[in-house]
Amino acid sequence: MLPARKQELAKMSNNVYIRGLGHHVPEKILTNRDLEKIVDTNDDWITSRTGISSRHIVDGQTCVDLAYESSMKALQNAGMEPDELTHILVATFTGDMPVPATACLLMERMGIRNKAAMDVAAACSGFVYGLEVARALIALHPDAKILVCGSEIVTSRVNWEDRSTCVLFGDGAGAAVVTGEKNGDKNGELLDVMVSADGGIGMALTVKGGGSAASYSLGEKVGDEYFIQMQGREIYKHAVRNMSSICKKLLERHGYTSEDVDVLLPHQANQRIIEAVGKKLSIPVERVFANVDRFGNTSAASIPIALSEARENGFIKDGNLVLVTTFGGGLTWGASLIQY
Ligand code: ACO
Repeated sequence: MLPARKQELAKMSNNVYIRGLGHHVPEKILTNRDLEKIVDTNDDWITSRTGISSRHIVDGQTCVDLAYESSMKALQNAGMEPDELTHILVATFTGDMPVPATACLLMERMGIRNKAAMDVAAACSGFVYGLEVARALIALHPDAKILVCGSEIVTSRVNWEDRSTCVLFGDGAGAAVVTGEKNGDKNGELLDVMVSADGGIGMALTVKGGGSAASYSLGEKVGDEYFIQMQGREIYKHAVRNMSSICKKLLERHGYTSEDVDVLLPHQANQRIIEAVGKKLSIPVERVFANVDRFGNTSAASIPIALSEARENGFIKDGNLVLVTTFGGGLTWGASLIQY
């Protein structure tokens, strides 16, 4: 017979809650009109092909600066102090530096020590992968209090001479505090997460330069491969196909249909992709959350920024069933069901 506390914890291990959310974007805004002055593009092309009008970009801030601001907001929203955290996960491909991990830099910035900390490398899908890791950690340690943050300075890996990619991205961060115990009735219950990847098509979206297979010698100039390189049409096709199919599988696993979904919250890469996924799932546009017009694609920060904003502005209401879906480099993708 387990002691009472252990029994209680074992029971709780099935329940995982998003106890707090927060997001932060840098103040500086880069509009499509501004981009017209940098590359051969125009507002009409960008808005009609992507739905993006403007994006926030850093002006001196680093990945950990944005991570810190969003994480402190998430902790405040959760009614918790940094020292209560047991684990810190930061999803990013644009961390301040390869070593130390951004999660360790964030811990230092928050003034806390002796917690588990690591970065999650799953490109744009990193936050949803982070949620899956958090669920697993709570199954092992029901008392765990986990910060899952997505923070990106995507513009640090954008080639401003490549009009086919530079118009798509922005910088920002979002964070969630994930625990096995809820705090009041405003928390979202993380019902499930499903993640997947296919390395066979990974070369359709790369940031090669600086890695050990494409390293630089001292004093050598970086080449194009240092920046995001992408086969746009391939990515578009896989994004729509994989996000809609993983959502269908996840809904089926719970005996839900699209009709049960109050809010679809997809990765904010492109308005056309967002709408195509909604259409494939038969979820009307009024129930699909989008903020890509103001933020562009912020990679791993896209989902937590969207979740935090949608909860803050009332798009996600108490009682709503939220279907989150993501897609990114790797190629990676995933989905999650959150019950508010
Ligand atoms: N301004 C003006 N013209 C442009 C621009 C631009 N910024 N970029 C490309 N064009 C031109 C091309 O040169 C091409 O001209 P051409 O016909 O004379 O050769 C024409 O526009 C059409 O180009 P396509 O690449 O075929 O345009 P498409 O309709 O496929 O749209 C886009 C391109 C927006 C990139 C689309 O393919 C897409 O959204 N793909 C998915 C990209 C994405 O979301 N990536 C990230 C997902 S993963 C992650 O989040 C990291």
